[in-house]
Amino acid sequence: MSVRGQTVEPNRKRTIRVCRPSVVVLCGPAASGKSTFAARHFRPTQVISSDFCRALVCDEERDQRYPLQTFALVEAIVSQRLSINRLCVVDSTALTFEARKSLRETGRRFQVPVELFMFDLPLETCVDFDRKRERSVGEKVIREHFQIFNQALASVESEGFDRILEIHEDDFESFQIEILYRPVFHFAQETPGKERRSSRAPVLEPSPRC
Ligand SMILES: Nc1ncnc2c1ncn2[C@@H]1O[C@H](COP(=O)(O)OP(=O)(O)O)[C@@H](O)[C@H]1O
Ligand SMILES: [Mg+2]
Repeated sequence: MSVRGQTVEPNRKRTIRVCRPSVVVLCGPAASGKSTFAARHFRPTQVISSDFCRALVCDEERDQRYPLQTFALVEAIVSQRLSINRLCVVDSTALTFEARKSLRETGRRFQVPVELFMFDLPLETCVDFDRKRERSVGEKVIREHFQIFNQALASVESEGFDRILEIHEDDFESFQIEILYRPVFHFAQETPGKERRSSRAPVLEPSPRC
């Protein structure tokens, strides 16, 4: 695992601190372990899965014909949760610049940190994971995802995330997530577009901008 801009001591179990409220965007090819990671480290209600939203809008999570409706629902859930200062872990591939930008902008509207967790596993591992799961997407799709993901790895630095965490193959057991609750300030009278804002809490290692 590595946090961009920071040196991480290898072979040491680390605590990754995540703010509540904030947006954590999971990004990686199909079968890179995003949903498994999310289920292991977060409460089910903290995870907004695009697969689940797709199933909610069209009854079938593999039916790729309704991306607009699916991601409108993802964004709506994220917005509603942020409006009451909840943590949002967005479980989708987030491979495109536009997908990441949209989630970043939603987070910015609510003035919360937006972080990117990149699942940088070898292609062979993802193909192997995919073969073993019930609903595999196939090697061709994973190879296509890898091409886009490699471009993302090279370009995300300048996109404006508060933190970029790269998760590698041997990291799954090597760290734990701690959720930091930060104090929030509720305006007595709501301001359009800034219904509720959160104050900035002290920065704690490894420095998500809380
Ligand atoms: N660390 C891991 N070790 C072994 N198998 C894993 C690991 N992470 C994920 N898997 C398996 O790989 C498959 C794909 O994982 P999943 O989390 O669904 O990927 P994604 O959400 O990125 O598509 C699942 O069957 C899952 O059980
Ligand atoms: Mg998944």
